[in-house]
Amino acid sequence: MLRSKRFEKLAEREVNKETFINEFHELGLIVMESPNDPTPTFRAVDGRVVEMDGRTVEEFDAIDRFIAAHSIDVAMAEKAMAMASSEIARLFVDINVPRREVMQVMGGCTPAKICEVMAELNVVEMMMAMQKMRQRKKPANQAHVTNWKENPALLAADAAEAGMRGFAEAETTVRVSRSAPFSALALLVGSQVGRPGVMTQISVEEALNLRLALKGLATYAETLSVYGTIPSFLDGDDTPWSKGILASAYASRGVKSRFTSGSGSEALMGYGLGFSMLYLEVRCILMVKGAGSQGVQNGSISCIALPESLPNGVRGVMAENLVAASLGLEVAAGNDALASHSSMRKTAKLMLQFLPGTDFVTSGHSVMPRKDNLFGGGCFDAEDMDDWLVIQRDMQVDAGLVPVREDEVLTVRRKAAKALQAVYEEMSFPPISDEEVDAATTAFSSDDMPDRDSVADLAAADTFLASDLTALDVVAALARTGYEDVAERVLEMQRQRVIGDYLHTSAIFDEDFNVLSAVNTPNDYQGPGTGYRVKGKLWDEIQTLPQALDPRQLVDDEAPDPDLELIPVGQAGAGSGDEVVIAVGPAFAIAMNKTLAELGHADVLANIVEGIESQGVKWRLVKVYHGADLADIGQTGAELSGSGIAIGLQSKGTALIHKKGLARLNNLELLSQAPNLTLESYRALGHNAACYATGRPAIPVPVKVDNTARLRLIVHTTLLHHREVNHIDEAKGPVEMKVEFK
Ligand code: 5AD
Ligand code: CA
Repeated sequence: MLRSKRFEKLAEREVNKETFINEFHELGLIVMESPNDPTPTFRAVDGRVVEMDGRTVEEFDAIDRFIAAHSIDVAMAEKAMAMASSEIARLFVDINVPRREVMQVMGGCTPAKICEVMAELNVVEMMMAMQKMRQRKKPANQAHVTNWKENPALLAADAAEAGMRGFAEAETTVRVSRSAPFSALALLVGSQVGRPGVMTQISVEEALNLRLALKGLATYAETLSVYGTIPSFLDGDDTPWSKGILASAYASRGVKSRFTSGSGSEALMGYGLGFSMLYLEVRCILMVKGAGSQGVQNGSISCIALPESLPNGVRGVMAENLVAASLGLEVAAGNDALASHSSMRKTAKLMLQFLPGTDFVTSGHSVMPRKDNLFGGGCFDAEDMDDWLVIQRDMQVDAGLVPVREDEVLTVRRKAAKALQAVYEEMSFPPISDEEVDAATTAFSSDDMPDRDSVADLAAADTFLASDLTALDVVAALARTGYEDVAERVLEMQRQRVIGDYLHTSAIFDEDFNVLSAVNTPNDYQGPGTGYRVKGKLWDEIQTLPQALDPRQLVDDEAPDPDLELIPVGQAGAGSGDEVVIAVGPAFAIAMNKTLAELGHADVLANIVEGIESQGVKWRLVKVYHGADLADIGQTGAELSGSGIAIGLQSKGTALIHKKGLARLNNLELLSQAPNLTLESYRALGHNAACYATGRPAIPVPVKVDNTARLRLIVHTTLLHHREVNHIDEAKGPVEMKVEFK
């Protein structure tokens, strides 16, 4: 078969490592609008729902029954269900309609109606809608903190770094479930060193999760999974009611919790039953609401690659985030599990949540490299941090992170590891060595950590879990060992559980332990000038990347070139014979001493001269003062040259050969990319100019092409050229210079 080399290359691209399939609705492999999805209907008698989405109360499954009983605002339903779906969709993007009003209408919609409304919105409208419907005013982000070796010092250090980087929540999980108590402890202590008020959780089996929370080792939970069909629910040994009871258990002990759901889980488990992923997910979201939870982690989560294999997958996943927000729930919006091989595709998907802002833009951004992510590898990892920060700065957007300095990070990492070392010693846990503290401070991954005695660790973890020891004993241990500040913060997290304000929708803490929630800081977006704006101190912080240079330092003059002296000999006049004039810019060898390619002016000039002299031709150096434009410099030289040939040379190294009589922007040769030039290029330029001066042909100077040179150096070019421009004297004619090489 005939093959195109371009198609062969395309086939090797990262994006083509993924599996793409066409829709197959019978297996639930369809993101939105399955032919099997019901059409919206609704009927209530005496405040009780008797028909919903084409099924009568007798035909309801358990999920329908739960939703009908707990999730739908029956009083609102008559009005909402009578509205055209397009009319409801328009409320989302109409800035004159406040968030509350949209929530009220959505509260009266059945699952099928909600799907119809979403089908009216394109992704940009969904983003506009999310900007308004997000519950909390300020967006935030959640961290994943795990490592392959389950090393506690490294967990503590990474949790501290997560806090410092701005994550409002940090989540861990385990490779071996018996490690859970120690991993939770490391996360709790480490996070509070990084920034007071970071909430932590440990994703393990639900009974264990609850026990750890009751011990005060976790302050939130988010693994209350729900599914949109009954058989998938039964696989998890659960019902909507059992999940509701679990959620109440957390709440009753002052632990923030949210549910988990998301497109694709039912199809993956074999029970999609022919419905679209969005329809089933909307049922999940309504169960979350009916169970009284403040929020949900959705956006497909662990299943993301499945909707992304289908048409409309990314849009459908955005729709589920939006539905959750518009039903009044906090949304941790996914972007956690690896969604694509292609960084372009990953980023494109991320922008749907990143730009409008969600309560948590990811429900887990790895603070570690991917191989240490025990959640199965993250979509965004330690290596992606700087890209994230740059995109925030590019767009003036807060996606939950702030730039950090290396020295500050090292300080908190060490402190976190040492504080945990002290706790371990006080509580007689298997010791954390100084070597581990050092390694955790600077580690890239758990490969940099020494191995621990995991048998001893697991035995101690079992004992710790079974004992009466709680977070309060950790507080005491910290206080006794000189970590009073950390002790206070860990204690404050316990006190907050008693106060309970952070159980309100979308609650996070600022670093003074003030709750920021949808209750006291609601999203009040209603068009330009309203809602959350990145400005003031936060904008200063976001724009001040540690790697950003101070341009002021780059415009200051350099010292004159020590290897070269240009001595003025008077006004330059017209020459005669086969000479080449070398015309240089105003800053040459005086305010600048090297080119963009870091070639010294003396060396550049010496090579040009050598090239000219190799052809037995004379030369003169003329300095142009009246302008810095290369075409002007070259033309000025050519007008003065006896042969009519001149080399024009800017101080940053850009050069050309001009011939008298040619239009200014026409020339014989142009070396336009100074960063790509070598001393050889300048020598060849001199050689060619001499050839032209004596009427002989020459092969144009070959130049190496580096397509990233402009990208890398455009700032330097701008600032260096500024030095040249600064030395312009418009009134001063060209001056002939005697050249002394030293
Ligand atoms: N639906 C329901 N639960 C999910 N989880 C991940 N993705 C989904 C989904 N789409 C759950 C896992 C685990 C936790 C990390 O989230 O089962 O409990
Ligand atoms: Ca999460």
